[in-house]
Amino acid sequence: MRLSIIGSGYVGTTVAACFADLGHEVVNVDIDEEIVEAINDGTAPIHEEGLPELIAKHAGPNGTGRLKATTDYAAVLDTEVTFLCLPTPQNDDGSIDLSIMEAGATQLGETLAEKSDWHTVVVKSTVVPGSTEDTITPILEDASDTTAGEAFGVGMNPEFLREGTAVNDFLNPDKVVLGADDDRALADIHDVFDPLVAQADAPVVETDTRTAEMIKYANNAFLAAKISLINDIGNICKQFDIDAYEVADAIGLDDRIGEQFLRSGVGWGGSCFPKDVSAIISAAEERGYEPPVLNAAVDLNERQPGRLVDLLAEHLDGEFDGARVTVLGLAFKPGTDDMRNSRAIPVIRDLQKRGGTVTAYDPVAMDNAPDYVDDVTYADSAAAALDGADGAVVVTDWDEFAALDEEFDAMANPIVVDGRRIIERRDGFTYEGLTW
Ligand code: UDX
Repeated sequence: MRLSIIGSGYVGTTVAACFADLGHEVVNVDIDEEIVEAINDGTAPIHEEGLPELIAKHAGPNGTGRLKATTDYAAVLDTEVTFLCLPTPQNDDGSIDLSIMEAGATQLGETLAEKSDWHTVVVKSTVVPGSTEDTITPILEDASDTTAGEAFGVGMNPEFLREGTAVNDFLNPDKVVLGADDDRALADIHDVFDPLVAQADAPVVETDTRTAEMIKYANNAFLAAKISLINDIGNICKQFDIDAYEVADAIGLDDRIGEQFLRSGVGWGGSCFPKDVSAIISAAEERGYEPPVLNAAVDLNERQPGRLVDLLAEHLDGEFDGARVTVLGLAFKPGTDDMRNSRAIPVIRDLQKRGGTVTAYDPVAMDNAPDYVDDVTYADSAAAALDGADGAVVVTDWDEFAALDEEFDAMANPIVVDGRRIIERRDGFTYEGLTW
């Protein structure tokens, strides 16, 4: 099929390259000329495993020609289905900011006014229930001066892609959710996904757009709350000197619980969990329901960084008083340079507020760090960061931290508080786990 993807962020670019790999003709539309140029040169504009290979395979001088990029919305006119993959950031109060989606839908609608045959528009961005039906569809109707269900159809297809494994997650989905409010749109989205469903043997959930939107929030809210629950249990384990990881391994054997997302520690960050949980809480509250469990999940997540710092303070007689603390890890999780909502941010701010000075090291995220934290000294290696330090905290579970050993001997005061259970404990330095 001929597809257009509006937005070349991490979702749009990944999805465009994966659709091309499934055999579709894809054009990626973005206002950023540098991104468009990168794709047309056959190079990946973002750091994502497996993406450079796919973009080189389908775009650029040696590609199949199935993937192109442009800044011109008119490219949509040569396609049958358009996916809206634009960002849906947060307002200051935690609610969803749909303004970028609204602007994109307006431009898409104005473009579709020029099209005489049927077109299907699919919302892929994460939007609160009702947004597609009540906001995006009316904008498309107004801007194109046509009627949904007659000139065009609208669907909603949430993504469940993790940063770092997005290509693999796309090509091997646990499920494919197809939401549509009319049969013709649903048939089009099916045609887009049928090659993937056949290849991956993935279950397909067919539903309306509102439910599809909610499935995305429910998925992320459930996983975030699952981590908060294991962190709560982990904090209890710590009180009893019990290893929360041994407990998690055992409860994970119960099929009803499952073994994934049971790693307790300093909490969840990233571009999705914090934003999506806040947005669905805010949308529910607007409609008169305050979700106590999700609010508690957020509350606990905000407390874990402070607990990590408390544990280090206990080893320093409660006083940081100019102590130089090493922060190992800045990215919100390993395998990415993304620091959005990383737990490193509250950890560093708390250490500084309590009188500590911070030296940090991360294998890839240090260039991004000054956008999030101030007054941090950046070291070239974990060894350099630890040398002479009065204490260390581990915030990201990078593999290279697991290999650290004699580097701890060079600390002035060898105390390590591990927020991710990645450090090998041994005699010679004081090791403190957050929930074990
Ligand atoms: C998440 C969802 O997993 C994905 O389906 C969705 O579409 C986008 O949001 P992502 O943000 O890339 O993906 O990261 P993920 O691997 O889910 O981790 C999120 C956070 O939870 C990280 O900060 C991670 O360190 C933390 N985490 C994860 C834990 O603390 N414990 C765990 O057991 C798992």
